[in-house]
Amino acid sequence: MTAIVSVKNLRKAYAGGFEALKSINLDIQEGEILALLGPNGAGKTTLISTICGITTPTSGTVTVGGHDTQTDYRAARGMIGLVPQEISLEPFETVFSTVRFSRGLFGKPRDDAKIDEILAQLSLADKRDNKVITLSGGMKRRVLIAKALAHEPRVLFLDEPSAGVDVELRKDMWEVVARLKASGVTIILTTHYIEEAEAIADRVGIINKGQILLIQDKAELMAQMGKKQLRIDLAVATPDIPAALAKYELQRAPDGRSLTYTYDTNGPRTGITTLLNDLQSAGLQMTDLQTQQSSLEDIFVGMVKEEA
Ligand SMILES: Nc1ncnc2c1ncn2[C@@H]1O[C@H](COP(=O)(O)OP(=O)(O)OP(=O)(O)O)[C@@H](O)[C@H]1O
Ligand SMILES: [Mg+2]
Repeated sequence: MTAIVSVKNLRKAYAGGFEALKSINLDIQEGEILALLGPNGAGKTTLISTICGITTPTSGTVTVGGHDTQTDYRAARGMIGLVPQEISLEPFETVFSTVRFSRGLFGKPRDDAKIDEILAQLSLADKRDNKVITLSGGMKRRVLIAKALAHEPRVLFLDEPSAGVDVELRKDMWEVVARLKASGVTIILTTHYIEEAEAIADRVGIINKGQILLIQDKAELMAQMGKKQLRIDLAVATPDIPAALAKYELQRAPDGRSLTYTYDTNGPRTGITTLLNDLQSAGLQMTDLQTQQSSLEDIFVGMVKEEA
C-alpha cells in the first residue's frame, strides 16, 4: 500500500505559544478509513486543518499525493475535500448551486452531471433545487459533504461528521462513508464517538493533548487488547477467595456475592471450564454467569486516563 497522505514531525503552536500538536507522524494509506478519536481539545481539528493547509504548521511537513501542502499548496489542496466541524452554508442558495460553486472554486470545468451524481450518492437528489434554509440539520451536513466532493478529491476529511446528528442519521452517515470508500476515496474522520470508530474505521488513532497515543488496525487493536470478563454470581456470599482458586486471580465483589474472572479471548484456552470445576470443588455454588467483552471504549478511556 502507498501512503496518500504523509505527515512528518508536524508541530503547531498557536499564537501565545500553546502547543496544540506535538510532533505528529502519520501515514495515511490510499483507500483506508482512518478514525481519529480524542476528547475535546485533543487537537483533532488542528491536525486536520494543518494537513489540509488551512492552518500553517510551526514545523514539519505534510504531503498529499506527493505534493507538499506548503510549497505546492494548490496541487495538494486539489486532492483534498474537507468537511468542516461547523456548518456554514449560504441559506438562500439551492443545494445544486451550492455544490456547483464549490467545484468552480477549484478551477474544475463545469460538469452538472457530476454534481447530480454526487447529490445522488448522498441521497440529496430530490433536494437538488431546494434552498439550503429548508433542509434539516442532517441534510445540511450531507450538503457539506457534497460540497467537499464537488471537485472530485481523492482524500476526504470529515471533522466530526456526526456531531449533533441523531442515532439514525449517524447510521446513514456511516453508510455514506462506506459508499465513498467503495468509490475509492480515502477517508479521515474525527469523532468523539467510540462506536463510530468501531463501526466504520479500518484504522483507529487515539489522539490526546496534541499527541497520537496509538494508531493501529482496528481489528488488531481490539483483538490485542480485547479481554473478556466472566462474572460469577454466588448463591451464598463468600468471605474470601478459597486458596485453591488463587491461580485464577479472581476479584471478589465487596459484598462477596460475586467473583469476576478476566481472561484473554486470544489465548490458547480461556480456563473457564477448569475454573467452574474448581469452584464446585471449593464448595461455591453459583446462581448465574455473565460475560462482558471489553470494547474500544475501555481501551480509549484507559489510555486517556493513563495519560492524564
Ligand atoms: N486559533 C486558536 N488559537 C489558540 N488556540 C487554539 C486555536 N484553535 C484551537 N486552539 C487550542 O488548541 C487545542 C486543540 O484544539 P482543537 O480544536 O484542535 O481540538 P479538537 O480535538 O478538535 O476538539 P473538539 O473535539 O472540541 O473539536 C485546544 O486547547 C484549543 O483551545
Ligand atoms: Mg474539533
